Amino acid sequence: MELETLDIPEIAKTLAEKHPSEIMEFALENYGGGLGISFSGAEDVVLIDLAAKIGGKFRVFSLDTGRLHSETYQFLDKVREHYGIPVEIFFPQVAAVERLVKEKGLFSFYQDGHKECCTVRKVEPLKRALGSLEAWVTGQRRDQSPSTRAQVAVVEVDPAFSQPGRDLIKFNPLANWSSKQVWSYIRENNVPFNPLHERGFISIGCAPCTRPVLPGQHEREGRWWWEDQTRKECGLHAGNIEGQAKA
Ligand code: ADX
Ligand code: SF4
Repeated sequence: MELETLDIPEIAKTLAEKHPSEIMEFALENYGGGLGISFSGAEDVVLIDLAAKIGGKFRVFSLDTGRLHSETYQFLDKVREHYGIPVEIFFPQVAAVERLVKEKGLFSFYQDGHKECCTVRKVEPLKRALGSLEAWVTGQRRDQSPSTRAQVAVVEVDPAFSQPGRDLIKFNPLANWSSKQVWSYIRENNVPFNPLHERGFISIGCAPCTRPVLPGQHEREGRWWWEDQTRKECGLHAGNIEGQAKA
């Protein structure tokens, strides 16, 4: 199939109810070398396992904010060794981080929200990572956040990071899966996982902005817990929040 002729909204309808491996297969077949899996170091490792089993060309990248847990750093390396693949790590711009922490200290997000720090440490590096890609794959799921991810499509033209005249395609192969399905897959396929999950962490982000949750609490309650539920996107998926389509 010619890339220019792909009608993404139509394809989204066709793939809407498909198994994540079929969605990944479509992504690999059509975007191969131009496809990057955005790996946070959490249960989205399933994406890498699916792609490795299907085979073909793909890239894996991770955004190192400088504030990840040491367990996550170790896990990134474990995944690299386990699958025998490079994990491209993108760091924030030194000058921007230095300016932020000089002006506001290392924990400004507790005072005035996470947006500024996430913009410097995650969004700018993500833009660089996406610059050389035609399509990216994320581990977003609808059940991760009823307030911001309930509508996530399995594939879409990225509303936040596409450029004029250059659509960036965003695959969310796990969109329809529940946390339970992801974890069944991890156990059944002996997929390596971040040891923080054994300590009450469900959703994992940066260390100062992530905490374990209690039984029955929603996973998103462990992220930026001092902020309003409806604003809990860091800019990577800004298109999920109405009025924040452009990052
Ligand atoms: S976040 O935007 O709130 O931080 P979340 O932790 O739910 O996102 O992860 C959703 C998806 O965003 C992940 O499966 C992954 O594809 C991408 N992502 C989040 N954080 C990172 C990161 N540090 N590096 C690469 N991808 C990430
Ligand atoms: Fe900064 Fe927290 Fe965002 Fe990480 S999650 S980039 S530490 S505000």
